[in-house]
Amino acid sequence: MIDELDSAARLLALVRRAVLAPSSHNTQPWIFRISESAVDVYADRTRALPANDPQDRELTISCGCALMNLRVAAAGDGLGLQVRGFPDPGQPDWLARAALAPESGAPPVEARLAPSIERRRTYRKRFDARAVDSVILDRLVEAASAEGAWLRPLLTDEARHQAGALVAEGDALQWADPVWRRELAAWMHPRRRGDGLSVPALALPVAQLVVRSFDMGGGVGAKDRELAEHSPVLAVLGTEGDGPGDWLAAGQALQGVLLTACLHGLQASYLNQPIQVATLRPRLAELVGGGCPQILLRLGYPVEEIAASPRRDVAAVVEHDPLRQSSPTAE
Ligand SMILES: Cc1cc2nc3c(=O)[nH]c(=O)nc-3n(C[C@H](O)[C@H](O)[C@H](O)COP(=O)(O)O)c2cc1C
Repeated sequence: MIDELDSAARLLALVRRAVLAPSSHNTQPWIFRISESAVDVYADRTRALPANDPQDRELTISCGCALMNLRVAAAGDGLGLQVRGFPDPGQPDWLARAALAPESGAPPVEARLAPSIERRRTYRKRFDARAVDSVILDRLVEAASAEGAWLRPLLTDEARHQAGALVAEGDALQWADPVWRRELAAWMHPRRRGDGLSVPALALPVAQLVVRSFDMGGGVGAKDRELAEHSPVLAVLGTEGDGPGDWLAAGQALQGVLLTACLHGLQASYLNQPIQVATLRPRLAELVGGGCPQILLRLGYPVEEIAASPRRDVAAVVEHDPLRQSSPTAE
């Protein structure tokens, strides 16, 4: 019994770090069911973004990021974890089972990433102009391929210029859509809510009204284009296929890249517009030599520390296995 409680506490400690993963619009679209010796990761599709992400592609990627955090946290704690994706094809929301394994076969590289879980931030400001060494870039490329995905940095000015133009085009198309704007406004929340994109409580009503009411695609596009063209690293993370299994792999790869980047002092942010807008995605794919782009990342050295974005209380995302709860407690 003590062992059982002990492993439940250990698993909960892993989940506390899993939820620090990034997620689109900070929706945190995950549920963790903790049983005796495993954590099951479920997609919470009530937190989907139908305008921004109609297939739940980014939702699944976000859950993949959380799954990677779970794996890295376990490795950091010296625990072996056996992970199986989509354990039951009849339950598409059940994304993964992570079971404690008696032997710690955790690769040392994952354990080394553990301190990065709490240091990682989405850094949307301009980066320091300092270039990123090609050896570090190689580590990021390896981190993606270790998960069955690829990371392709855009190395020429011409490629960056074209990517920047696609980002601006994506901004224009998204902001022109009132449904997309309404969805964005709905996920602008005061910090105390613990999710969404944080806006100071006093400014919130006006900020939401502005986002809902005005097409700001031109201004946002110009700024994003400038960020794309001037970031020390601009890279596309992608997969060969484009189904839920590929998205889960892309999420684990993304988090592997982000944590590896963080280990080397880098932070990242996203310019996913040309992937979110379906008509632009093939043009970005062509720019990087084919395949299925999943995430467009910019990376560099931050010029200042920024606060962590909020998370919901872990109790809101954890369910305990009902079989375990109903079992007799007086043993
Ligand atoms: C799949 C995915 C897509 C994202 N897309 C965007 C995006 O298009 N623009 C953006 O600014 N941030 C994007 N983000 C970052 C989230 O907004 C961010 O993770 C969330 O606000 C939590 O903040 P944190 O990463 O600093 O913890 C994305 C994150 C993920 C995982």
